[in-house]
Amino acid sequence: MTILVTGATGTVGRLVVDELVQAGHQVRALTRNPSHASEVLPAGVEVVAGDLADPDSLVQAFDGVTAAHLITFAGDDYAPLSRGDEIVELVVKAGVRRVTVLGGRADGPLEQALAAATEQATGLEWTLLEPVEFMSNTLRWWAGSVKAHGVVREPFGDRLSALVHEADIAAVAAAVLTGEGHGGRTYTLTGPEALTTREKVRVLAEATGVGITFTELTEQEARTEWRSYGMGEETIEFLVQALGNTPEVGYTVVPTVEQVTGRPARSFAQWAAEHAAAFRP
Ligand SMILES: NC(=O)c1ccc[n+]([C@@H]2O[C@H](COP(=O)([O-])OP(=O)(O)OC[C@H]3O[C@@H](n4cnc5c(N)ncnc54)[C@H](OP(=O)(O)O)[C@@H]3O)[C@@H](O)[C@H]2O)c1
Repeated sequence: MTILVTGATGTVGRLVVDELVQAGHQVRALTRNPSHASEVLPAGVEVVAGDLADPDSLVQAFDGVTAAHLITFAGDDYAPLSRGDEIVELVVKAGVRRVTVLGGRADGPLEQALAAATEQATGLEWTLLEPVEFMSNTLRWWAGSVKAHGVVREPFGDRLSALVHEADIAAVAAAVLTGEGHGGRTYTLTGPEALTTREKVRVLAEATGVGITFTELTEQEARTEWRSYGMGEETIEFLVQALGNTPEVGYTVVPTVEQVTGRPARSFAQWAAEHAAAFRP
């Protein structure tokens, strides 16, 4: 039984691969860059070349696959998979039985095609994973300024987030891909608590053992600062909405991680301890 993991070199996919390998499964990893993937993925993982934007390049990747973890985007700008229906045709043709989808910003062509395929009784089961904010976003957005200046600069310091450890997203994906009873479900995935941005900074400061200041920017200051980093207007707008107007689902703790994996969701304190070195000068 071969399980295909797409996005296998990314934040979540890399951990899905680890979970499946540790549980003794045969894993195939899709990548646009096989030589890099072979360097970063564990021994024994079969690396196959393919581009999700070009379904013709994916025929070999799906051959003999019984379960697959799918991302919904192609390229570094996270553009939704416009040819999702062709990918689902390959999934059905290959006889894949179980699919997990790492949900993106909105229901896109891939999700719509999967829903249509299951309605046609193809024997395919799929499960949508909808994580809230990843804990690893702090690595992406904060590590540089904490390392260099001991400061986090962000707007909306009191906004709450039930941020989730990416290893828990991966653990849920692995459990769904290898277990019964998850087909047709949508799993919202959160961590065990909702924290404000100020609280996150405090947790991070404790874990790293270095002083970290929080400077709250106004929305306008944040827009100007993000623009100065070369960030596009669309991303800036997305961030202002996501941070300034976090939907209820983003700060409401749910027990799904524990229900699906049998283990409590990991805390931000645990994540911060694991990644402390990345924030120290
Ligand atoms: N960050 C958050 O807080 C958050 C919250 C909820 C949901 N999400 C969703 O999570 C997803 C991002 O997950 P992530 O952070 O794990 O991703 P990521 O770390 O940015 O990883 C990107 C992965 O996608 C693969 N990839 C990109 N374009 C590809 C293509 N054309 N063909 C094949 N593979 C391609 C890359 O593989 P190669 O480079 O090896 O080809 C890489 O493994 C997005 O859909 C986002 O909306 C994020």
